[in-house]
Amino acid sequence: MVNQNLNPSPDESHRIATTDDIEVSTYLEIAKGQSGAQPSAADKAIPSARREAIIVLDFGSQYNLLIARRVRETQVYCELVPHDTPWEKIAPLNPKGFILSGGPSSVYDKNAPLAPAYVYEKGLPVLGICYGMQAITQQLGGKVSPGTRKEYGHAMLHISEQDCPLFQGLPEATPVWMSHGDRIEEFPPGFSALAYTENSPYAVIGNGKNIFGLQFHPEVVHTAEGKTIIKNFVHNICGCHSSWTMANYINESIANIKKQVGGGKIINALSGGVDSSVVATLIYKAVGDQLTCIFVNNGVLRKDEAERTLKVFKNNLGMKVVYVDAVDRFLGRLKGITDPEQKRKIIGEEFIRVFEDEAKKIGKVDFLGQGTLYPDVIESVSSVSTVSAKIKSHHNVGGLPERMTLKLLEPLRFLFKDEVRLLGKELGLPEEMVWRQPFPGPGLAIRCIGEVTREKLEILRNADAVLMEEIKKADMYRRLWQSFVVLTDVRSVGVMGDFRTYSHMAAVRAVTSEDAMTADWARLPYDLLARISNRIVNEVPGINRVVYDITSKPPSTIEWE
Ligand code: XMP
Repeated sequence: MVNQNLNPSPDESHRIATTDDIEVSTYLEIAKGQSGAQPSAADKAIPSARREAIIVLDFGSQYNLLIARRVRETQVYCELVPHDTPWEKIAPLNPKGFILSGGPSSVYDKNAPLAPAYVYEKGLPVLGICYGMQAITQQLGGKVSPGTRKEYGHAMLHISEQDCPLFQGLPEATPVWMSHGDRIEEFPPGFSALAYTENSPYAVIGNGKNIFGLQFHPEVVHTAEGKTIIKNFVHNICGCHSSWTMANYINESIANIKKQVGGGKIINALSGGVDSSVVATLIYKAVGDQLTCIFVNNGVLRKDEAERTLKVFKNNLGMKVVYVDAVDRFLGRLKGITDPEQKRKIIGEEFIRVFEDEAKKIGKVDFLGQGTLYPDVIESVSSVSTVSAKIKSHHNVGGLPERMTLKLLEPLRFLFKDEVRLLGKELGLPEEMVWRQPFPGPGLAIRCIGEVTREKLEILRNADAVLMEEIKKADMYRRLWQSFVVLTDVRSVGVMGDFRTYSHMAAVRAVTSEDAMTADWARLPYDLLARISNRIVNEVPGINRVVYDITSKPPSTIEWE
């Protein structure tokens, strides 16, 4: 199965699993060790009442978020909602069709979750995926029973009804990804098989009108034509138009921000990460100088990071940015500290203090801009979303808005990460900002093993800059989840020219990952590793040995501390 363990083990729960920004609340959370409140529902309303939507009813499959992403990739808005959501909540979304997701239950079990009656009564098209297909079968009068052979993994789908609009553009045979134990024994009245695999005579079923069921998962990449099938359902069968584009989103979002904010003042913590950058730019386009961004230099940023960020936002975009040089404050408090958790706590606490001090200077402020994303806010039943919800409360909202009596402004709460990047591009942000690799809130402090000193930070910064340059030159930057240098506390003997050296050992870490929950070490080409090592040792005084970290996560973590 494409199964990844999404549950962080308890001993790594202090780590922030999805952030790539120095979020205010991340700091607060770490600082206070407290769980955050749920985000305000103030801007929960869908921005456009006329927008067409496909509704995914969530029966708990781990792939459910993927279904919503795939639908949106066809430029149609999609929401994932709990399977028992009442019609009153669905109607305002302007639904054009339903997708019933997969899930871990069996429809013949007592208390098995089923689709609400409106799914079949409104006359809108319905696509059931795996469990969703069995729910359709059971609810419309067919019969589902435990299969004698469970089917997991690849299978070859053969299409028997080539004229069906669901199959437009598909070859007669195509690989699909199966993951099911139950099977259909009797069709509901009016249904027939449209395609089969070796083990599933009813791999696709339909009622000849607008209700379909798929035994396989079209949303996963292993189903080669999955995207086409979803696109066919959404466009050919539901009749949706391609209206979900980031250009449209910008216009709607700007109008919404103006309405929500009125003449109010907004502050935003800028980090240079993609989420906070996009939030700031969007709010700025809507209300200009009502927004003040605060950029805190905490002394554990990478080389030129502060200058680069200020250049884009202050000089190029003309935003009001308050730059706070708090390097001495942070490094003073980190003096003598070697425990990583202590480092996190100190950086978190100090950030909040600095941020509050600066915010007070601005005078009365009404809103805090924040880069909350869609996976953080959905209320759903699947393991993925439950985990997301936990991460959300962990990293995105802390007590700051309450302490400062600020309302939250979260213009990205309808978007997936990849949509945020597209939005950033559409807003004209530089490529390097839009595609920036994640950078942890506590920054270089947790990559500088042992005590954090100015001297060690300088060495680490220079080594990291060399690595980044080589990774970018080799065109690897976007293919890697993260790539960075760790300055270990180990010193070893070396020889340079005629001199004996006794200097730091640096470790290079480069990983591939989908979501930071699991990661694999990147198989970087040997000659690239050789160039990185050569250059670091030759160009960075203080380092005389470079090693490459070849452990995956688990059992290791991505960061060393
Ligand atoms: P680990 O090291 O737990 O990291 O495998 C997973 C992802 O989270 C980032 N990370 C952090 N981000 N504050 C953050 O904002 C933190 O304390 C923190 N610790 C780890 C890490 O860079 C990786 O992307």
